[in-house]
Amino acid sequence: MPRPAETRTQPVNIAPATRDKLRKSLLSWYERNARALPWRAERARRDPYRTWLSEVMLQQTGVAAVIPYYREFVERWPNVSALAAAPREEVLAAWAGLGYYARARNLHAAAQILAGAGFPETEAGWRALPGVGIYSAAAIAAIAHGLPTNVVDGNVERVMARLHATQTPLPTAKPELRKLASALVNDERPGDWAEALMDLGAIVCTPRAPKCGECPWRKNCAAEAAGDPERFPRRTPKPQRPQRFGAAFLVQKRGKLWLVRRPERGLLAGMAALPSTTWRAQTWGKREALALAPGEGAWRKVGEVRHVFTHFALSLDVYAANVSPSGEGWWGDASALPSVFKKAVDMGRSVRACGQLVRVRTAFTKNANSP
Ligand code: ADE
Repeated sequence: MPRPAETRTQPVNIAPATRDKLRKSLLSWYERNARALPWRAERARRDPYRTWLSEVMLQQTGVAAVIPYYREFVERWPNVSALAAAPREEVLAAWAGLGYYARARNLHAAAQILAGAGFPETEAGWRALPGVGIYSAAAIAAIAHGLPTNVVDGNVERVMARLHATQTPLPTAKPELRKLASALVNDERPGDWAEALMDLGAIVCTPRAPKCGECPWRKNCAAEAAGDPERFPRRTPKPQRPQRFGAAFLVQKRGKLWLVRRPERGLLAGMAALPSTTWRAQTWGKREALALAPGEGAWRKVGEVRHVFTHFALSLDVYAANVSPSGEGWWGDASALPSVFKKAVDMGRSVRACGQLVRVRTAFTKNANSP
């Protein structure tokens, strides 16, 4: 069967005997060590809805953070028609805390298409849906339809870079690493192959302190032979994230919060939010920030939240007051808020409880549940 266009690559030279040995040892390692994840349960295994949903959730978010959201979604919306029929605000609210909210908007838009047209059966068909990129389309086609696609994310790049001790730094090395991964794919158990590689990257061939003693590929690994697998993949240094500043306004009444909806475009588009200033490169003076507060009153600064988004780091001054809020908004609760605003709410509540100004800093870890 010809490979779909997205993953067709130039062949690389790998001896068939080596390829077969690598495949056999990894698949047999997987049989013993596969992580038990809810989207791998028998019920979900070949179900395109559950596979699609889990792969979208797993884009940019770690497995541990995804599990409770995946469970909640399949319980509330057990099939694609149910998800398509749900109001968009409910889907966005259920996604709150998982981050990268364009995924939830795209998921809901794609559900409308799928509920009408049915599920695609090819990688290209999945790729055509909103929110399904090259990686997810390849993963869904392999897992749900058993197609021999090339499923390559950062984990797989790392595994390939170590196996071959690739000297080219990332991101330049990406096409080269894709080719190396592609050379190991065939028609035999494509879904297991994709997930076996993912698990090897997640459990054994970890970014730091890889557990080479447990690796089924140890004897074939060029980075291990060179004595320092952690040096791979090589990387071109990234420029620092820019810093932005903003202020957010906390108004609480009988346990409810005054909330607004973010604009339909841009970061956190369409999500529920605390009223806030724009987030810009210069700091905000108190007077200038309060001129944009949702109502006049005795605003007091309760602290400062730091949050790291993909493209910038944000420092958010949090002000609280007992005012009658003005402008468009509604009284709601924190559960539907993105993490940056939840942190601001938690800060306001802890200050109320102990009467002190606080600072919250959180570290950013790629692949973790960040925004
Ligand atoms: N990351 C992306 N897809 C995954 C899957 N199916 N299992 C585990 N981790 C993943």
